Amino acid sequence: MSSLIITGGYPVSGEVQVQGSKNAVLPLLAASLLVKGTTVIEHCPDISDVTCMLEILKSLGCTVLRDKETVIIDAEILGRSAVSRQNAEKMRSSISLLGALLGREGRARIPLPGGCSIGKRPVDLHLMALRCLGAEIEEKDELYAVLRKCHSAEIVFPYPSVGAVQNVILASVVSSASIVMRNCAREPEVEELCMFLNRAGANIRGGGTDTIIVTGVKKLCEIRYIVRSDRIVAGTLLSMAAATQGDITVKGIDPFELSAVTNVFANMGCQVKLYTDAISLRADGRVRCLPLLKTLPYPGFPTDMQSQLISVLIQARGTSVVRETVFENRLGIVPELRRMHADIVVNRREQAAIIRGRDKRYLHAAELMAPDLRAGAALVVAAMAVEGTSTIKKSEYVERGYENMAQLVRSVGGSCQVLSE
Ligand code: UD1
Repeated sequence: MSSLIITGGYPVSGEVQVQGSKNAVLPLLAASLLVKGTTVIEHCPDISDVTCMLEILKSLGCTVLRDKETVIIDAEILGRSAVSRQNAEKMRSSISLLGALLGREGRARIPLPGGCSIGKRPVDLHLMALRCLGAEIEEKDELYAVLRKCHSAEIVFPYPSVGAVQNVILASVVSSASIVMRNCAREPEVEELCMFLNRAGANIRGGGTDTIIVTGVKKLCEIRYIVRSDRIVAGTLLSMAAATQGDITVKGIDPFELSAVTNVFANMGCQVKLYTDAISLRADGRVRCLPLLKTLPYPGFPTDMQSQLISVLIQARGTSVVRETVFENRLGIVPELRRMHADIVVNRREQAAIIRGRDKRYLHAAELMAPDLRAGAALVVAAMAVEGTSTIKKSEYVERGYENMAQLVRSVGGSCQVLSE
């Protein structure tokens, strides 16, 4: 187990080039299975979820090379269509391999991803949509799926699931079928998958909108692609500035992708400046409270930024309410922040945190435990704001999505060390 040791209480400042996006690159790595040749991905983040996905690709028969931020995958010959339990359990997004393997091999065997600490996270929408394409899927402790021929279909999603839309695209992009999907997730990571595949010769229209049309093509060609920057890492950095009354500029990010987040920070009284590919945030004093904020699918406020926002609001002037509507159990940050003497209560029925902001003098450094990836990052934000030295245990969670968090904190003038046991 490793821990992050953070000494906080100082305003942070600096300019940071944002790492590649975790949620964008994972489906692209799955999509590389559809290219019978070489895929080169640049600006690939050096995080443990990527390492895990590359291990799975190797186990399926791909040759993989990785040098710093560049990954080369040769999927000319695949030997297997089954993903091992050991690898799949480490990472929920291994489910995107279901669509990719059905698209490439016409069959797939994948352990059920199961629940996780932020909610049950079922895969019913993935299976419903893939069955519309003609897939036969048996659910035991593993998923056994066969897609002999991808059928044309119109699919209406009852909820805009990011992963389910991506799975349909992966299963149908190389086929003779035409697929129309409605009420699709509009997240930038869906658009990124469409852009990547189109650059490899696919015919997908509407990525990033609620209607996506896939017209199957015979094959995809070799491709070199630069992954966009991680909007959640950028948002986490902006939270650090807001929480410590600091001044940070995040570079290499499209401000449109973060507009829900920057609007909220501006409402809290932060000075936000948008550039063509950068955002800066300065906080001159305690932030203002938010009467009610709900997480929503894109373009709403992202659930992946909810914990970091709560870490900022513990010192706001006044009482804020943050309601989680995307996942059913994503307030694991609350008991941890209470250890720092934050004044928060949870309304379980509403999945809402009621946060009474306190002056920093009344908040204390503490020994904390990361409950999941984003809540772990949010504890880093809180620890940077509060005077004294906090310990965040189970920081492996944070490594799933953040390249070297300790270095990131130090790069903006904070104090952070890693302790490995
Ligand atoms: C992706 C992101 C994750 C982000 C989430 C929402 C990746 C690797 N992960 O996760 O960081 O928090 O989008 O923006 O990109 N649901 C069902 N049945 C299904 C599928 C989903 O009920 O078959 C529910 C989920 O339990 C959840 C909600 O729908 O409550 C949203 O899930 P979804 O959009 O599918 O998120 P992921 O793709 O898993």
